[in-house]
Amino acid sequence: MRVITTIKEMQIEILKKKAEYKSVGFVPTMGFLHEGHLTLINKARQENDVVVLSIFVNPLQFGPSEDFTTYPRDFERDRALAESEKVDYLFYPAVKEMYPHALSNTVIVQERTDVLCGRSRPGHFDGVATVLTKLFNIVMPTRAYFGKKDAQQVAVVDGLVKDFNFPIQIIPVDIVREEDGLAKSSRNVNLLPEERLQAAVLYRSLKAAEAAILEGERSPAKIKNSIHQTIAAESNAFVDYIEILSYPELKTLEELNGTIIIALAVKFTNVRLIDNLILEL
Ligand code: PAJ
Repeated sequence: MRVITTIKEMQIEILKKKAEYKSVGFVPTMGFLHEGHLTLINKARQENDVVVLSIFVNPLQFGPSEDFTTYPRDFERDRALAESEKVDYLFYPAVKEMYPHALSNTVIVQERTDVLCGRSRPGHFDGVATVLTKLFNIVMPTRAYFGKKDAQQVAVVDGLVKDFNFPIQIIPVDIVREEDGLAKSSRNVNLLPEERLQAAVLYRSLKAAEAAILEGERSPAKIKNSIHQTIAAESNAFVDYIEILSYPELKTLEELNGTIIIALAVKFTNVRLIDNLILEL
């Protein structure tokens, strides 16, 4: 595995591989790797000749009062994990390499951002779309892998690739969970010990909602209400949002049918967690 820190070197290496008609699988991350990330890498490894993993905590996608500085980082651990997952190139640029000066162009996401994390985190998806536009031009992947844990991100990236004609196939990957159902996340280490136990409520409340829907409940308001009550029973958990929308369009639904997403965000003392379930009705 080679660690590459400059854009130029990354592009030169990839162009060499492309000249040999090699397929390139790309897994963009912000590091502090866990099994969710490793699942994406594994899939990329199976489906491509060359695997590129990027680790870059992108300041552009964090709001001023968000956790950019406390976002967990451990490059040496990540490097060892990437190596053991048989990554070929680990792209690890500094902020100055990616943003040497204020950008004179940024991507603004026009659709699907007035809901879920787009509403709670203004500008977040513009930051994601901007950094991915850069990363796609740097890594020039054949396929790029994204986790469904960030289902809105998958929908936004799909739109980005279609609108700007990136010749890249976006591959969504299922959510990887802890034994108690908590979705794996780099941010889970910022939960207080008692909150780590309480955090299982996210998935538990989603599964209860799924059960109610399978038994015939079709009122979004009633379902959201019961999720809210389940979460409110945990002392440190504060609901940021609970939404039920069509997927991948992310439009509000009066009646539940078709493919729907039940998505939620919950705040604990030092961390905000998200989770979702996608159901075919
Ligand atoms: P990050 O949060 O590090 O996540 C990197 C990728 O791993 C994303 O596609 C995310 O959906 C996926 N992932 C995280 N937890 C997962 C889980 N439990 N199961 C399956 N997949 C999981 O998402 C980002 O970074 C950034 O926004 C990025 C795309 C790198 C742009 O900066």
